[in-house]
Amino acid sequence: MNASRLRPLIAGNWKMNGSRAQTEALIADLRGRAASQPDLADLLVCPPAAYLMQAAKLLDGSAIALGAQDCHTRQSGAHTGDLSAAMLVDCGCRYAILGHSERRADHGETNELVAAKAKAAHEAGLIAIVCVGETEAERDRGATLDVISAQLEGSVPADADAAGLVIAYEPVWAIGTGRTPTPEDVAAVHTHIRSLLKAWFKDGAEMRILYGGSVKASNAATLMHVAEVNGALVGGASLKGEEFWAIALAAAGG
Ligand code: PGA
Repeated sequence: MNASRLRPLIAGNWKMNGSRAQTEALIADLRGRAASQPDLADLLVCPPAAYLMQAAKLLDGSAIALGAQDCHTRQSGAHTGDLSAAMLVDCGCRYAILGHSERRADHGETNELVAAKAKAAHEAGLIAIVCVGETEAERDRGATLDVISAQLEGSVPADADAAGLVIAYEPVWAIGTGRTPTPEDVAAVHTHIRSLLKAWFKDGAEMRILYGGSVKASNAATLMHVAEVNGALVGGASLKGEEFWAIALAAAGG
């Protein structure tokens, strides 16, 4: 069972999906469900940047938080196409997902860059969700815990605290594939992450550690009650209100 029982955070990473109409429909659906059980869990939606302002208006007055999927290392300047953490705060964001494996792969984001982004997020008052996870080849050769240690050490700023940092463990091979690690494997990685956070930070016991990678309604009850799992970073299933809500119910129950 989950020894730490931190309040779960259920975060929806919409990735590059949706439209204005879908943003409106999904948030209306979620607001309706959340209104009936407001204290269930911390809920977060991270739509594409193009829809953040719209989403902020739609979420106004609700407890559902808004997050971005990235931010720049600087707060302003000559960086065409980029968005700063300060701008995201100005648009109503409370969180930013940083160092997602798709950004590490598609945009060559290194641990150093992710750490700099997390620092910028912290300075602007955003909560950073720093993502780590091994590839299938790394798992197969037994390197999972070493890879996770190195990613965490490189991507998490030294002055992080529990109020401003969330870790998401997302095995690369489990993202969007329908495959998930066993509960024992998830427990081994989350327990490892917890021990590092406790060793590095005064409040390391309070930092939330999310699991991500093919979380859906049917496996959420199992995954969300693994030791040291404090919520989920949900991709595909976050685009369906009913699935996302079922994950939140599973995380809150038991
Ligand atoms: P998935 O994505 O739930 O579609 O596997 C998770 C993520 O990439 O955050």
